[in-house]
Amino acid sequence: MTDPRYDDGLPPRRHRFNADADWDQWPVTAYLAENYRRMHASDAAVIRHHSAFYRQFPADGVARSLEFGAGPNLYPLMPAAAVARRIDALEPSAANVAYLAGQLDHPDPSWDQFYALCRELDPRLPANLTDALSRVRVLHADATAVPAGAYDLASMNFVAESVTEDADEFAGLCGIFIHAVRPGGHLVAAFMENMPSYHIGAGLTWPAFPVDTAAVRHVFAPHTERLQVTRVDKDPTLPDYGDTGMVLLQAARIPADDDE
Ligand SMILES: C[S@@+](CC[C@H](N)C(=O)[O-])C[C@H]1O[C@@H](n2cnc3c(N)ncnc32)[C@H](O)[C@@H]1O
Repeated sequence: MTDPRYDDGLPPRRHRFNADADWDQWPVTAYLAENYRRMHASDAAVIRHHSAFYRQFPADGVARSLEFGAGPNLYPLMPAAAVARRIDALEPSAANVAYLAGQLDHPDPSWDQFYALCRELDPRLPANLTDALSRVRVLHADATAVPAGAYDLASMNFVAESVTEDADEFAGLCGIFIHAVRPGGHLVAAFMENMPSYHIGAGLTWPAFPVDTAAVRHVFAPHTERLQVTRVDKDPTLPDYGDTGMVLLQAARIPADDDE
């Protein structure tokens, strides 16, 4: 049956693109309930990976970082707060922006367990999560608004592969992410591995493009150095989105990359 959101009377499209989904309808409550109301082993694996990445920088040593497609997930913002003096959380969905903005002063207690792990891994973080989040500015915008080369560091978690069914658009979003940092700037990311388009709860279908370590490496290698791509096994305590685990990345944009 044709999804009524995409029924424009034309023959079925081969792919759904990013603009075909209504991101303002993102089901914040259901997404949090399925993924982030308690810390799963795979969250801890992502946090350990990202914390190790951030520990290479001096405290407060990064002027400006970007969280690309922040969604309602606070945990990628946490380790960044040890080193980034300002963190821009870019997010196009009005629903996610409303949640994020409300969390900066009063984070839900469910985030405390994530913050406790982040602080254990990086004691430079302030005692209080609200103090860490005071570095975050929420930007209500999508990838097209990201200024090239404006950031020293960028982070992206479950975005480029989870927002389109199109291979070229996946690569294009990764390209915007890479070029968000200046040449020599730093990148950290997590991707769902081999995830097809997915449901959250009993809701709408969201477009996804299945990727693995080779696909991620293929897109990032031409523009980066010190590229490290690893993976995490599927976490059986998370919903079955059809994925096979997660892919983790850290890299630096190549210093001579003047291709904006
Ligand atoms: C699967 S969610 C991941 C959210 C969050 N980063 C996390 O770790 O849970 C995908 C996110 O990408 C956002 N998004 C969708 N299209 C985007 C675009 N063109 N540019 C930036 N973000 C986008 C969505 O609104 C949503 O918050």
